[in-house]
Amino acid sequence: METRDWYDTPLYYDIIFDADTPREGRFLEAVHERHGVKSRTRRVLEPACGSGRLMVEMARRAWQVAGFDGNAQMLNFAKQRLKAEGLKGQIWVDWMQSFDLPGRGAFDLAHCLVSTFKYLLTEADALACLQRVAASLKPGGLFVLGVHLTDYAQEREEHERWSAERDGIQVTCNTHTWPANKRKRLEDLRTRLKIQHAGRSHTQETRWQFRTYNAAQMRSLLGKVPELKMLACYDFTYDIESPRELDDSYADILLVLQRQA
Ligand SMILES: C[S@@+](CC[C@H](N)C(=O)[O-])C[C@H]1O[C@@H](n2cnc3c(N)ncnc32)[C@H](O)[C@@H]1O
Repeated sequence: METRDWYDTPLYYDIIFDADTPREGRFLEAVHERHGVKSRTRRVLEPACGSGRLMVEMARRAWQVAGFDGNAQMLNFAKQRLKAEGLKGQIWVDWMQSFDLPGRGAFDLAHCLVSTFKYLLTEADALACLQRVAASLKPGGLFVLGVHLTDYAQEREEHERWSAERDGIQVTCNTHTWPANKRKRLEDLRTRLKIQHAGRSHTQETRWQFRTYNAAQMRSLLGKVPELKMLACYDFTYDIESPRELDDSYADILLVLQRQA
């Protein structure tokens, strides 16, 4: 089996994560309509935008899109996806914890979904990211942050498996998450992508770590960024009519944070 950073093969990432994209796009718009402020512009920033699946989705919905990522291959793919549909976007290589502000107070909306924020392995980096996102937003602008919370009592590994197909390329994703190290606040993950195309098959494996949060740890982090106020919390049903409390009774949270004036 090949060991490889799955973000160096953006097409396979894009295929496997694309199924939820329209639902996420609809949800982001619904959040903006319900919690955002009216403005003539519709500018959205995506830190760690990856293959650009959500940039394309938001651009199709007539948003002006901007995004950056640490992986140049993902960004090249994102540029091509936008271009192929005749859409425009501002895209550059940068890091969530230290990114250049593309426009101070310029954005109506920012988002960082599918636990991407957990790649920031220290509290200092997580804080720096939140502060920079806050500085990019207009007063009243929204940051939607989607992460999987950790249950520190969990003693067994979690396993997720799903498949998707595009243009005859079938990708099956197998992800394992090992029980978190509560003291270090780190969890180990491994994903295996099985790619089947034109009668051939190969598997590639990626391992990485995430910083872990339970509800109290997330509240504690947010308490250090007074420029962002939590307005609401949802879960991964992406149902704007079903807000939830931020607590540990479920794992997948979508926080709506608002830039304070
Ligand atoms: C799970 S993908 C999410 C991509 C995209 N936001 C989406 O929803 O499909 C995570 C992305 O985060 C990027 N990444 C990880 N750590 C990063 C960091 N510190 N700064 C910038 N990008 C980072 C990876 O290169 C990858 O493209």
